[in-house]
This record gives sequence, structure tokens and C-alpha cells, in this order.
Amino acid sequence: MKTSESFDKSEAEEIAKNISATKEFTRLMTQYECAIMEIETKLNVLNSEFSLQYDRNPFESIESRLKDTESIVEKMLSKGLEVNVENIEAHIYDVAGVRVVCSFKEDIYKLADLLVQQDDVLLLARKDYIENPKPNGYRSLHMIFDIPIFLSEGKKHMKVEVQFRTIAMDFWASVDHKLKYKKEINNPEEVVARLKLCADNLAAMDQEMESIRQSIDQEYL
Ligand code: GTP
Ligand code: MG
Repeated sequence: MKTSESFDKSEAEEIAKNISATKEFTRLMTQYECAIMEIETKLNVLNSEFSLQYDRNPFESIESRLKDTESIVEKMLSKGLEVNVENIEAHIYDVAGVRVVCSFKEDIYKLADLLVQQDDVLLLARKDYIENPKPNGYRSLHMIFDIPIFLSEGKKHMKVEVQFRTIAMDFWASVDHKLKYKKEINNPEEVVARLKLCADNLAAMDQEMESIRQSIDQEYL
């Protein structure tokens, strides 16, 4: 992640090293891992049920990750926050991240709605970069959920970020990330414009593939 860094990279490294040695931090990270397991289970259940109802699996893949400690610390420093466990929980919403890749845009919205309807799932934020793509062409549906995990000492609420994408959107975002990661690009405007064109072409293909699927579904009911 590139930010307008007002802190030193080695400062972040040092803080990350210190905090990751604490019991509280390790405990919190384990709780985020549990939250990932809970939401993955919910998504897998929906996937199985959906395939019975619609005769197709909506998922292509599901991937999860815990944000690494240095990225957490960098994000906190860039927000001017003191780095401690309470502030991580209160201010960093993407420590636990799940990415769901679907074949069709329609399936993304169906799955997301089904998840929101579950009575132990609370939607905290939703950014629809499919309806409103970023200026560079990035598309995905981002949702921040609050879900409970069940520990020996009781129930605890955790935040999880879920990104829903089609295969085409995921292809674009992966390549975009690879191209830009830690590189100084000489002709940024041209590169940005060409990548944006790729994103728009992919969106048009997504639309066409979805319309092909709809016509097949109608013909072979
Ligand atoms: P972060 O601090 O990066 O989390 O920013 P934010 O809280 O404003 O969230 P945003 O809605 O921008 O989404 C952040 C996440 O979406 C990133 O961690 C990426 O996984 C993904 N993302 C957002 N924009 C882009 C982009 O232009 N290219 C790629 N490849 N991924 C993006
Ligand atoms: Mg993020």
C-alpha cells in the first residue's frame, strides 16, 4: 500500500515487531482467524444451497487472508492513531479479509443479500465499485460485516471485509496489482488509460456472458 507516509518505514517495522510479541495481539489475530472461518462457513453453506436451487455453483473461488502486522501498523500510523489492540479493533476494518470470486455479477448480489439477511450478520459498510467503478476502472463489491464468534469466555463481535468479484474483475485487479506493485511507472497517464480501457472491455464481456447465460436459461427451462 502506498500512502503519503509521514512516518518512517523502520518506525513501522519496529512497532510491528513489538506489538506482535504481545499476548493481546496474538489473541486478537486468532480471533480474526476465527471470524474468517465463521464467514467462510456461512458463504460455503450459501454456495451449496444456491447450487441446489439454481443448478450452478456461484463461486469460482474463495480466498482469505489476515492483514500482515506491518500493513496494520502502517495504516494506523497514516491515520495518526496510537498502535494498540483496542485501536486496531476499533479502526481497522480489513484485518480479516475474504475474497469471493463468482462467475456472474447477478450471483454476487444474490449471495451478498443472502448474507445480509442472516440474523447474526450485521452490515457495517458497503461500497459498490461495480455500480460505481473507481476512476481507474477497479470493480468489486466491498462489504464490512460484524459477525459473532463464540469463545470459551463468551460471544465476541468481529469485523470482516468481504470483497465480491466476477472472474473478469478479479483478473483485472490481480494484474493491476502485479503491474503497479512497488514500481515507479514512467508514463502513468498512458498506463492508467490503457488499464481503464481493459477494465471497461472486461465489464462489457461480463455483461455479454451474463446475457448469454440468461438466454440459455430461458431456452432450456
Ligand atoms: P485501504 O486502506 O486500501 O483498505 O482503502 P479503503 O479503506 O479506502 O478501501 P477501498 O475501498 O479502496 O478498498 C481497499 C481494497 O480494495 C484494497 O486493499 C484492494 O484489495 C482493493 N482495491 C481497491 N482499489 C484497487 C485498485 O485500484 N486496484 C486493485 N488491484 N485493488 C484495489
Ligand atoms: Mg484494505
